[in-house]
Amino acid sequence: MASRKKIVTVTGATGFVGRALVQRLMSEPDVAIRCLVRPGSDVSALRRLDGEVSLVYGDITQPETLNEAFEGAWGVVNLAGHREFWSRSRKDFYTLNEGGAKNVFRASLASGVSKVVQVSTPLAFGVPDRIPFDENTPPGGHPSDYARSKYLGDAAGWRMYEEEGLPLTIVYLAAVIGAGDDKSTMEVRRAVDRKLPALVGADTTYTYVYVGDAAEAITRALLKADAVGRRYLIGDQRATTREYFKLIGEIANVPIPSWNIPETCLLPVARGMEWLSRRTGVRPAIPLDVIKTTAAGSLLFDSSRAVEELGMSYTPLKAALEEAVAEIRAT
Ligand SMILES: NC(=O)c1ccc[n+]([C@@H]2O[C@H](COP(=O)([O-])OP(=O)(O)OC[C@H]3O[C@@H](n4cnc5c(N)ncnc54)[C@H](OP(=O)(O)O)[C@@H]3O)[C@@H](O)[C@H]2O)c1
Repeated sequence: MASRKKIVTVTGATGFVGRALVQRLMSEPDVAIRCLVRPGSDVSALRRLDGEVSLVYGDITQPETLNEAFEGAWGVVNLAGHREFWSRSRKDFYTLNEGGAKNVFRASLASGVSKVVQVSTPLAFGVPDRIPFDENTPPGGHPSDYARSKYLGDAAGWRMYEEEGLPLTIVYLAAVIGAGDDKSTMEVRRAVDRKLPALVGADTTYTYVYVGDAAEAITRALLKADAVGRRYLIGDQRATTREYFKLIGEIANVPIPSWNIPETCLLPVARGMEWLSRRTGVRPAIPLDVIKTTAAGSLLFDSSRAVEELGMSYTPLKAALEEAVAEIRAT
């Protein structure tokens, strides 16, 4: 007899949030997980799940490769994205975060799925007029190509929701912290390895979310019957950059520099590094878009809708950082 489980196609399942989401979805008895992976993806973590998930090859920037992954799916979670503040070609951000997302939405419409969860970032709101902002606040200008490209991908999905009936929910994850992040964007490893030369934007406040809570929020948005057409800002753990690194220092028992370099001093340095990196292909130590993002000020939002409608509660930032530091120490 054919399985009655709902097939959920997850793009970006090999990534930091994707692996946590797959683990979380495995506890849903009515869900069958199908991961869209690229031919070159490291699928070892997914293969270790003992056949509990199926893998289908595809690339979200190549729409002709998506049919098999979407056919017969009940739901789609789009996590595939370029989560970085630097790329040798700035076009990469738009090819993946905007164009790739559009391809996922079109494939979802073509295969008649019932739910699509687009995973975005509060940075997609840019620098809005009102802080703290909420889901209804109009976006402001974007200081980075990451933020702008995510905004454009979300906006394309929203148009398809309004004009073509795409069953879309968008979740905007605060900066995600926990074990399993192999990217350097959150700077945990650099701090633990005592390689942080100084602080930048020490008094800027960001909002964080534990990776397990991020997976929980995506799952709840996916399975909640009346979440179509809703948008949710996820995470409520706030810390200034100074407080964030102080916590890492205390957990890892390493010294953290107290010296804060103003963005105005760093901008010309970051521009020079960017110029060099474009030629060498090596990531700059200080990406220009990081400095521009920090200079844009604190990222504060009201996350009460996700608490009220998804029943979210959040793990303390300290616990999330303890998990991240423990993993770094163990490797
Ligand atoms: N982590 C955060 O703090 C955070 C916060 C807010 C929002 N988000 C959003 O959440 C999503 C996932 O983030 P993450 O932290 O898990 O990122 P990640 O670890 O960098 O993972 C990115 C994923 O995208 C996949 N991917 C890249 N290009 C692809 C393509 N052309 N076709 C199909 N898959 C492709 C990667 O597959 P490969 O294994 O093949 O490279 C990987 O699975 C992103 O869209 C990001 O914008 C993340």
